[in-house]
Amino acid sequence: MIVTIERLGHLGDAIAQGENGPIFVAQVLPGEVVEGDLVGNRLEKPRIITPSPNRVRPPCTHARSCGGCLVQHANDDFVAEWKTDVVRSALAGQGIEMSLRPIKTSPPLSRRRATIAGRRTKGGTLLGFHARGSDTLVAVPQCQLLHPDLKAAFPALEALVMAGGSRKTELALTVTRTLAGPDVMVTGGKPLDGQLRFELARVAEAHNLSRLTWKDEVIALRTAPMQAMGRAHVAPPPGAFLQATEEGQADLLAAVQEAVGNAKRITDLFAGAGTFALPLAETAEVHAVEGDAAMTTALDKGWRMAEGLKRITTEARDLFRRPLEPDEFKKVQAVVIDPPRAGAEAQTKTLAAARVPVIAFVSCNPVTFARDARILLDAGYKLDWVQPIDQFRWSAHVELAARFSL
Ligand SMILES: C[S@@+](CC[C@H](N)C(=O)[O-])C[C@H]1O[C@@H](n2cnc3c(N)ncnc32)[C@H](O)[C@@H]1O
Repeated sequence: MIVTIERLGHLGDAIAQGENGPIFVAQVLPGEVVEGDLVGNRLEKPRIITPSPNRVRPPCTHARSCGGCLVQHANDDFVAEWKTDVVRSALAGQGIEMSLRPIKTSPPLSRRRATIAGRRTKGGTLLGFHARGSDTLVAVPQCQLLHPDLKAAFPALEALVMAGGSRKTELALTVTRTLAGPDVMVTGGKPLDGQLRFELARVAEAHNLSRLTWKDEVIALRTAPMQAMGRAHVAPPPGAFLQATEEGQADLLAAVQEAVGNAKRITDLFAGAGTFALPLAETAEVHAVEGDAAMTTALDKGWRMAEGLKRITTEARDLFRRPLEPDEFKKVQAVVIDPPRAGAEAQTKTLAAARVPVIAFVSCNPVTFARDARILLDAGYKLDWVQPIDQFRWSAHVELAARFSL
């Protein structure tokens, strides 16, 4: 069967219009004429008859087999426009039409946090990402996403898989670049006993890991796994959220700082370990609210150790069940809100009622962002600008920062 690709769906699959509905094709681009075998609603084994001018040779040698990246076969301009369009369509779905700022994309080799899969094999170990649509592991020594410091941690990860993995189960090894060496958290490994604890601690020592956590237990804390947040240093708890790239964090922070301007009293909602609260405290008093008490504790400690910051108060609170109420925003001049993918419907409703003059909204899901934006617009807020940000180069993810004002 021969089809012409019409568009790229928001999950990265190309879509052609068939007689009986849409046909999905992997790894091809709009405008391409493709021949393949129709299996259900998918065109399998696609052969490109007419390539798109946007097609490029994938920069990574693993692109064909590895499922970690979806659109390495497209040039950067195409990917930027496709991701911007995902944001545009989500907003249009809520009747919001506006021009967007040009997307900011993190460079290759910048991911500072990633979860690598690992298992033992007959001859040793295998580390990598899953192949597209399968649980087969693909080794990724030439990966173009991971920061060189994460790749340099692979021998440590191999040693951990050797010590605590098996051929039957797969380990998930989350490795984070820190100022003090790799911070590693492993799940799916063998249950801990005295011998394994000893062996894992030896690996942490031999490979200069800053911290090693096995499931829920910290096995070794050799040096505090610090992250720079403005002029403060914070050691987030094991496995805690961290913006995926340093460049992405800087882009998000610049947008948030521009949005709040010279506000002197700020509330930071879904504050994490202080990515925004700590730099903002260089010029404003901040109340930081976050669901995970271990993160607010880390933030507070980072603030206490830093010099020259204004006051930060912290509160551990579930903002889905117990959003801040309007009277808790008295005298607050700006709010920063950065919820998880589900968005922040309940909190946005009370925020709309509180009428805080400025809201800096950061989102990793354009669809829930558009839903929450609609709540603010209906309450009389103006959407001043939207800045798309791409920390997940070559994937289907896109993030954004936006400013609302009254
Ligand atoms: C996208 S992260 C942003 C964190 C921080 N602003 C940053 O940039 O590092 C979302 C944060 O929301 C927190 N969170 C998730 N569900 C929550 C809830 N129901 N109530 C409060 N915080 C929650 C997570 O722990 C996480 O720190």
